[in-house]
Amino acid sequence: MKIAILGFGTVGSGVYEIAKTLKNIEVKKVLEKDLSKINIATNNYDEIINDKEVELVVECMGGLHPAYEFIMKAIQNKKSVVSANKAVIAKYLDEFLKTAKENNVEFRFEASVGGGIPCLAGIQKIRRVENIDKFYGIFNGTSNFILDNMYRLENEFFTSLKTAQKLGYAEADPSADIDGYDVTNKVIISFVLAYDGFIKNEFLCFAMKNITKEDILYFKKQGFVAKYIGEATTKGNEYEASVMLNLFPINALEANVLSNYNIVTVQSHTMGEVKFYGQGAGKLPTANAIIQDILDIQAKISFNPISIEKKYTYSSNLFKHKYVIRSNEELKGNFERIDRDGNNFYHYTKEITQADLLKLVEEKDYLVVRLSEY
Ligand code: NAP
Ligand code: HSE
Repeated sequence: MKIAILGFGTVGSGVYEIAKTLKNIEVKKVLEKDLSKINIATNNYDEIINDKEVELVVECMGGLHPAYEFIMKAIQNKKSVVSANKAVIAKYLDEFLKTAKENNVEFRFEASVGGGIPCLAGIQKIRRVENIDKFYGIFNGTSNFILDNMYRLENEFFTSLKTAQKLGYAEADPSADIDGYDVTNKVIISFVLAYDGFIKNEFLCFAMKNITKEDILYFKKQGFVAKYIGEATTKGNEYEASVMLNLFPINALEANVLSNYNIVTVQSHTMGEVKFYGQGAGKLPTANAIIQDILDIQAKISFNPISIEKKYTYSSNLFKHKYVIRSNEELKGNFERIDRDGNNFYHYTKEITQADLLKLVEEKDYLVVRLSEY
C-alpha cells in the first residue's frame, strides 16, 4: 500500500522509520514546510491528493487547521486517513466518520489516545461483548513525566517540562499537556468508543500546573502520589467526566506508573478491571500505533463499528467524591480535616458532588486534587 505522511516531525518521522522496515507499506510522499527534511517531501498538498497511487494519508501535523481541511480533502478523494491528532479528532470526529462512510474509506485514530498503547482497540474489543461501566487513567505522558520527576527526583516543574519537550513527548504548545486540554480531548475520543456518544468539551477540568514541589512533598508524607487523571462514566443518558490530579496510595498501580508511561483502566461486568499500560507518548510507540491502524485497514480488520448515535448530557451532580483543596489561607467550610504545612493549608472535603466542589473553589487559583477511590 502506498501512503503519504502529513508532517515530518516526531511522529511522522517515526511512521516513516517503521514503514521502511515493512514490505507492504511504502511512503510515497511527505507533506512538509521544510523540503530539506526528506527527499520525498512536497509542500503542495494537491500533489498528494491527485496522486491516485496514494491510498492512505497519515496526518501528524497537529493543530486544528489546516489539519481539518486536509483530512476532509483526503477522505473526499477516497483516501483512508489515520491520524494521531487528538485536538482535531475531538472536535470534528463526527464529520470525519460521516464523510468516511459516505466515501467508503476508513478514518482511524488509535495513536490519538495512549500513544503506543492499543487502548482504543481494547475498548472496542470489550464492547463486542458488553457495555463499559467506567474508564479512567493517566492519559498524558508529559504531565506524568513531570509529576514523576518532581516526586522521585524532586525536580522543579518547569525543569521537568523542558526535558519532556526535548524528548518529544510534549505538544507543540505544551499548555495542552499541563492545562488539561490534551487529556480532555482523549477523554472525549475514548468516550465515543466506550459509550457511542460524542460529548463536548464541557466537563470538569483542573490544570495540573498548579502543583508545586511543596505539595508533592506534603502528599508524599501522607503516603500519596499525585497523578493526572481523566475519567468518564455514565448513568442513563447523563454522564460525569473530569480531568484533574488524583491522589493514589503509594502501592496503587497508578502511583507506580513512571516517566512518559500511561495507564488506562476500563471497567465492565464480566471483565472487571482491565488495565492498558505502556508508553503514552514518544516517536516510535506512537508511530507503531499508526502503523497498526494502517495494517488493520489493509487487512480490513475492524473490532467494533464506531457509533456516535447516543446523546448524553453532562451532570455535575451524579456522583460524590472526596477532594483536597490547597490554598495559602484557611477556608471556611465543613471540612473533614485541615492540615497546615508551611504556608499551605490542605482542606480535606467530605464526599461532595462536582457542583459542590465548584462552589467551594469558585474561580480561585487553588490546587484541587481528588482522593482516588480506585
Ligand atoms: P511535531 O514534532 O511538531 O511535528 C509536526 C510536523 O508537522 C512539523 O514538522 C511541522 O513543521 C509539520 N507541519 C505542521 N503544519 C504543517 C503544514 N501546514 N504543512 C506541512 N507541514 C506541517 O509534532 P508531533 O509531536 O509529531 O505531533 C504530531 C501530532 O501527533 C499532534 O497532533 C500530536 O498531538 C500527536 N501526537 C503526538 C505524540 C507524541 O508523542 N509526540 C503522541 C501522540 C499523538 P513545522 O515544525 O515547520 O511547523
Ligand atoms: N503530548 C502528549 C502526551 C502526546 O504527552 O501525552 C501523546 O498524546
